[in-house]
Amino acid sequence: MSVDFQSWITSHQTRFEGVLRGLLPNAEIAPQRLHGAMRYAVLDGGKRVRPLLAFAAGELAGADVARVDIAAAAVELIHAYSLVHDDMPCMDDDVLRRGKPTCHVQYDEATALLVGDSLQTLAFQLLAEHQLNDDAARQLEMLKLLAHASGSRGMAGGQAIDLASVGKSLTLPELEFMHIHKTGALIRAAVLLGAHCGSLMETAQMSKLDHFGKLIGLAFQVVDDVLDCEADTATLGKTAGKDADNGKPTYVSLLGIQDARDMAQRLHREALETLAEFGAAAQRLRELADFIVLRKF
Ligand code: IPE
Ligand code: IPE
Ligand code: MG
Ligand code: MG
Ligand code: MG
Repeated sequence: MSVDFQSWITSHQTRFEGVLRGLLPNAEIAPQRLHGAMRYAVLDGGKRVRPLLAFAAGELAGADVARVDIAAAAVELIHAYSLVHDDMPCMDDDVLRRGKPTCHVQYDEATALLVGDSLQTLAFQLLAEHQLNDDAARQLEMLKLLAHASGSRGMAGGQAIDLASVGKSLTLPELEFMHIHKTGALIRAAVLLGAHCGSLMETAQMSKLDHFGKLIGLAFQVVDDVLDCEADTATLGKTAGKDADNGKPTYVSLLGIQDARDMAQRLHREALETLAEFGAAAQRLRELADFIVLRKF
């Protein structure tokens, strides 16, 4: 990773942490326990990959970073909610997340459920309350985009398939369908929302970006599957080996570790190809694609 890219990441992460702090309800305001738990689930942790993708796409589209901050926060809140629910006993039943006890362990299950509900609605409140584009119709598109990516035909739908697949061996197309939904949809939305904060791009360019988001979103989950089996708990900040323990079909269980790695590399190459025509303006997106595939946690 270049020094320049590392400092780009750090400066965005630092500023964005402050943005999230300001947007989340203060823990002194009632109901204090719920607000404290929301802050616990969102702040001080995570790689912030989705926000970084939104910032990179926003730069490509010449967007005002203060607008992208809000769009990125909306996506990150949905992501954080999905993690809180994903870890609950009725789903993956995990006790460690981002190096800390999971939300339902630190608080309780009912609170974790409500944290998810509240983060989700806060995400849409942000998109509705802040002006993110001078064109109101485009802003409405952004709301629809995030709703679609989060719901039954996006992340939540993918999670439903994931749970229904325990103990089964899926075909490769079925596994791809699941991953594109449970993880790919939000990553794709992050790229598009960042771009939507900027000036209007040609439809063909927007669809290139969309395709990039789809490929890199799938690659992200393939790598997550590989790391679950290869990395250790301390590095991941979440329980390693959980997929095999839970009987989840993954790219590793279906293809084996080497083919899963190769698959991530292939998706990475294809993702970079979709950015070819953008030239230097898409450099951060390329670097993030590299990061997603090469990461160790
Ligand atoms: C983990 O996502 C869950 C998946 C969708 C694979 P991340 O790896 O982005 O988790 P954080 O946000 O960095 O903790
Ligand atoms: C999670 O997939 C996807 C979502 C939370 C939507 P995983 O169950 O593989 O995520 P981790 O490995 O627990 O982070
Ligand atoms: Mg899961
Ligand atoms: Mg999980
Ligand atoms: Mg996983």
